[in-house]
Amino acid sequence: MTSAARPFEHDGIAFGCDYNPEQWTPDVWDEDIRLMGEAGVDLVAVNIFGWSHLEPRRGAYDFAALDDIIGRLHAAGIRVNLGTGTASPPAWLTRAEPDILPIAEDGTRRYPGGRQAWCPSSPAFREAALRLVDAVGRRYGDHPAVALWHVSNELGCHNALCYCDASATSFREWLRARYDTLDALNAAWGTAFWSQTYGEWDEILPPRATLSTRNPGQMLDFHRFSSDELLGYYRAEADVLRGVSAIPVTTNFMVTAHIENLDYWSWADDMDVIANDHYLDHRLADPTAELAFAADLSRGLGQGAPWILMEHSTGAVNWQPLNKPKAQGEIIRNSLTHVARGADGVCFFQWRASVQGSEKFHSAMLPHAGTDSAVWREVVELGAIVDRLGEVAGSRVEAQAALVFSWESWWATQTDSRPSQSLGYLDQVHAAYGALHALGLTVDIVAPGAALDAYALVVVPGLHLVRAAEAAVVTDWIAAGGTALITFYSGTVDQDDRVWTGGYTGPFREALGIRVEEFAPVAPGTTLQLDDGSTSTLWSERAQPTTAAVAASFTDGPSAGSPAITRNAWGDGAAWYLATQLEPAGYRDLMGRIAEEAGVRPAARVTGGGGAIEIVRRRAADASYLFVVNHGDAAASVEVSGHELITEMPVAGNVDVPGGAVRIIREEAAA
Ligand code: GLA
Repeated sequence: MTSAARPFEHDGIAFGCDYNPEQWTPDVWDEDIRLMGEAGVDLVAVNIFGWSHLEPRRGAYDFAALDDIIGRLHAAGIRVNLGTGTASPPAWLTRAEPDILPIAEDGTRRYPGGRQAWCPSSPAFREAALRLVDAVGRRYGDHPAVALWHVSNELGCHNALCYCDASATSFREWLRARYDTLDALNAAWGTAFWSQTYGEWDEILPPRATLSTRNPGQMLDFHRFSSDELLGYYRAEADVLRGVSAIPVTTNFMVTAHIENLDYWSWADDMDVIANDHYLDHRLADPTAELAFAADLSRGLGQGAPWILMEHSTGAVNWQPLNKPKAQGEIIRNSLTHVARGADGVCFFQWRASVQGSEKFHSAMLPHAGTDSAVWREVVELGAIVDRLGEVAGSRVEAQAALVFSWESWWATQTDSRPSQSLGYLDQVHAAYGALHALGLTVDIVAPGAALDAYALVVVPGLHLVRAAEAAVVTDWIAAGGTALITFYSGTVDQDDRVWTGGYTGPFREALGIRVEEFAPVAPGTTLQLDDGSTSTLWSERAQPTTAAVAASFTDGPSAGSPAITRNAWGDGAAWYLATQLEPAGYRDLMGRIAEEAGVRPAARVTGGGGAIEIVRRRAADASYLFVVNHGDAAASVEVSGHELITEMPVAGNVDVPGGAVRIIREEAAA
C-alpha cells in the first residue's frame, strides 16, 4: 500500500453484496433492507451502474433516489461501499460524443447497449466521468454511512484494449516516455525484421489487425500501455475523490481465470485496500484450486494484508457456456476459503436476482425463488458464521512457499506466434499451483523480483519473460540455501521479448545446470512416458545437463532420452527443473518430493479427507486460527487444540471435519 493509504476499517469480517435498487420499487427496498438484516449483511455496494439515474441529462443531477437508499441503509446500520457510478456511460453521452465508443482491433466500433462502452483514452469520456465523480464525491464524501469508495467497476473487463485514434495518440505518448528515442523503440521491438523500422513517431499505431502475425514487441508494449492507461484513469477518479473526501478508495480487481489485461502488480499500491471479484470457472480442470490461487494472489497484491472479496456468486453465473449452481454447502466453503486465505470481507454479486436484463439468470443472495430456498438458507447460515469470525479480521496468512507470477509473462506467452498454440501461461501456473494445493501447502503469490527470504520453497512456473535482475533474485536465493522448482519456457525472453541465447532458460541456465537446445511440443492428447514411471503431455525439450543430476528422462516422443526432470545443487541450495507438463498425480508427487526436501509442510497434520482438505493458518499478534475446509465427502481429522469458532466447541488434540464441512480453530498455543 502507498504511504498515503487510508485503511479500510470494519468491525469484524464484512459481509455484503452489490445492490442495484434502481431495478426495483421502494416497497421492495423495504423488504430488501429487512432481509439484509436477517442475513447479517453489513456492507453494501450501490451506484455501480448509476450514471443514467444520477445524471439523466448532461449536467442535470438527480440524487433523490440515491440519497434515499443510502439513508435507509444507514438507518439499518449497513455500511455503504459507494460506486462512483461511471462504469457504463449513459446513452445521451455516447450519442453526443460517439468517439467515446471503443474500436476493436479490426477497426469496427463497439456500440452501447451492453456495458463499459468507453475508450480508456477518450478525453470526452474522462471529462464527463470526472464531473460525475466530483458531484458524487462532494455529495457523499463525508456521509456517515459511506465506508469505502468503489471506483467504476471491474476496470478493463471489456474495454481494456482499444485501438481507436485517441488510443493511438496516447500509446505514442506512452512510448515516447518509455523509450525517449525512436532508435530505442526500434531496437526494443526488433523492427529490423520485416521492414518495420519507424522513422516518425506518428507512424506508430496500436497493433491493429494485420494480414500476418503482428510484431510481438509492439503487442507486449500495447498490453503494458493499456494496463497503465486504465490505471491512469483509476487514478484520475481516485484523485477527485481524495480531494473531496477522506474515505478509503479502491476498485474491484478481476483476479479470476481468463482475465489477463491488467498488470495488477502495478495497480496494487494505488488501492487503499485490495478488493477482488472471483467467480468459479467450470471450464477449468480444478475450479476449487483456481479459487485458492486467486485468493492467494489477491493477498499477494496487498503484500499479505487482508483484502476484500468484493464479488462472488451464490450459484450459477450467466456467462459461461454451462452455468452450474453450487453444491450444498459450497457457498460456505468457497466463502470461508477466501477468508482462510486472507479476506476480511465476503461480498456477493448481487443481493436480489434481477428479473430483467442480461444477468437475470445470474444467481444472487436472494434468488428468484425467494427466501424459501436452499440458497437463502445457506446465505443466512453463512452470515451467522461470518459474524462469529470477527476476531480473525486483521490476522495474516502464514506461508512457507512462494510462487512467482507475472502478467508480463502471460502477455508475452500468448502472442500470435509461439512454439505451441496449446501452451497457455495461466495453465502452467494453475498446474504448478494445483500440485501445491493438492499437497495442502499454503503459497504466497509474489511478483518477479520480489524478495524471497521469507520462504523455504519457491516455484517459478513458465516465467517466459524475465529480466536478468529478476532471475538473479531467484538464483541468488537458491545459492543462499533455497529450494526452487523452475518449469519449462521460463527465462526464454527478456523485457523486450528478445530471446536469451546460448540455451533456453537464459538467466536461470547456470543455476539449473542444464542447456535446453530445442523445444519439442507435442499435440494435445499426446502422452509422453518418463523413465520414473510418470507421464506428461504438451511439451518436451531436447536438452543437455551440464552440472544437473537427471531425475527422470523422456523415454518416447520427440525428445526421447532427454532429461525431463533435473536437480542441480547451486550454492547451498537446489534448483529443480521440469521440462514437461506432468499429469496431475505425477506433478503432485514431484512437488511433494521437492517440498519435503525444502522442509515445507501443511499447516497441520491431516488424517483422512481423501485429498480434498484445504488447510491454512492465519496468525494475529496474540492468536492463530487454523482453517480447515473439507471439499470432499470423506471425513477428516486434523491435529489441533483450541476452540472451534463455527460449532463453538472446545477442541483437544484433534478436530473432526465431516465431508463438506469447514472448521476454524482458535489455536491454544502457537503451532
Ligand atoms: C462482474 C461484474 C458484475 C456482474 C458479475 C456477474 O463481476 O462486476 O457487475 O456482471 O460480473 O458475474
